[in-house]
Amino acid sequence: MLGVAREKARVEGVGVDGEEVVRFLEGDVGALEGLEGLELGNGEGEEEEEEEEKFDVITICSALVLLDRPGEAMKGWVERWLKRGGRLVCDVPCPRAMLGIKTLARVGKMVGVETLGDWEWVEGAESLRKMMEGAGLDARVIETEAWEEVPSRTKFLGRMGEEGVWGVEEGGDVFDDLTRGREKWRERREEARGLFEVEWRGMGGEDGLVREVNGLFVGIGVKR
Ligand SMILES: C[S@@+](CC[C@H](N)C(=O)[O-])C[C@H]1O[C@@H](n2cnc3c(N)ncnc32)[C@H](O)[C@@H]1O
Repeated sequence: MLGVAREKARVEGVGVDGEEVVRFLEGDVGALEGLEGLELGNGEGEEEEEEEEKFDVITICSALVLLDRPGEAMKGWVERWLKRGGRLVCDVPCPRAMLGIKTLARVGKMVGVETLGDWEWVEGAESLRKMMEGAGLDARVIETEAWEEVPSRTKFLGRMGEEGVWGVEEGGDVFDDLTRGREKWRERREEARGLFEVEWRGMGGEDGLVREVNGLFVGIGVKR
């Protein structure tokens, strides 16, 4: 993704002629302390100078749910790198969005197969708002409309023949589609498939269908 970002900057002509407008740094956003290029102040802990160099805006797009401890990470960004009055903008998928990848993450935890992130804490807009408040922000969270172009939407077409609607009994097929050719699932495949089927069935409505609705919660917070 850094490669994509660099290319976009090049195409847009941002920072051409050696002018440093955008700087790309590579690191774990859950542990940014000590990352080269992100130091604040003169290194002598002068508070005013550090405050001046902090960011006006911090944003994280389509990645908060990939972090193991998102609340802790957010608190760190706000405390250390956001100016007073600065904004943090972030998003998380709604509970009915990206059901395949999310269920796979849950099953991975059950059988000890490593998958990225923690999606379980997102129960509604309020979960994100609380996390942001806990990080020291005055926060507002909005829910987007459902939309079609979502990279992590569940692509498998079930018996209903349309995207986003499956029978409750089709969990095993969705699992197969998501894990095809993925070596890390090989040893626990049978057990994981069974658990996935149970989870999938549990998400079904009275009509016997599982429905995916791809919307996001978008949070905008101002540092107190
Ligand atoms: C779904 S992509 C979104 C990329 C980009 N923000 C966008 O919206 O197009 C998620 C990105 O988060 C990165 N990522 C996941 N966990 C990370 C972490 N702990 N530190 C830094 N990057 C991480 C992944 O490598 C991936 O590039």
